Amino acid sequence: MLELGAGLGLPSLTAALRGASVLATDWADDAVALLRANAKRNSIRLRVKRVRWDDPEPLLREAPWQLVLGADLLYEERNAAQLLELLPRLGGEIVIADPGRPFAKSFFEQWEVETLADGVYQLRLP
Ligand SMILES: C[S@@+](CC[C@H](N)C(=O)[O-])C[C@H]1O[C@@H](n2cnc3c(N)ncnc32)[C@H](O)[C@@H]1O
Repeated sequence: MLELGAGLGLPSLTAALRGASVLATDWADDAVALLRANAKRNSIRLRVKRVRWDDPEPLLREAPWQLVLGADLLYEERNAAQLLELLPRLGGEIVIADPGRPFAKSFFEQWEVETLADGVYQLRLP
């Protein structure tokens, strides 16, 4: 599975602990370094890579992903625009968690959305 904008990467760490093969990504060097160190410190096997959504070649090379996760990514308009372009190219199941960010509403309108839990949505192209 792939996590976009992982930050601290709790979904990635949890999935890896439960046996998933995980690539966690973020564009922030600090986030990548911290998540790598955290995984190592806890003996959790996962890959962590610095990737930005407007330069997604490393992600496309490994597509289709079985599962793509992202949490709290829709806080800027450009994020929503870049993810609308990128997500359909990654394949697989898409699950996005969102706490009610301003750009989430118009983003979700572009998808068939199934609510999996409070603030957690599975997306399919209509
Ligand atoms: C609000 S934080 C959420 C972090 C984590 N998913 C969470 O829920 O705690 C958004 C994350 O997306 C990353 N991000 C924002 N724009 C990005 C982009 N264009 N490419 C890759 N990562 C990006 C940020 O660096 C940040 O770690």
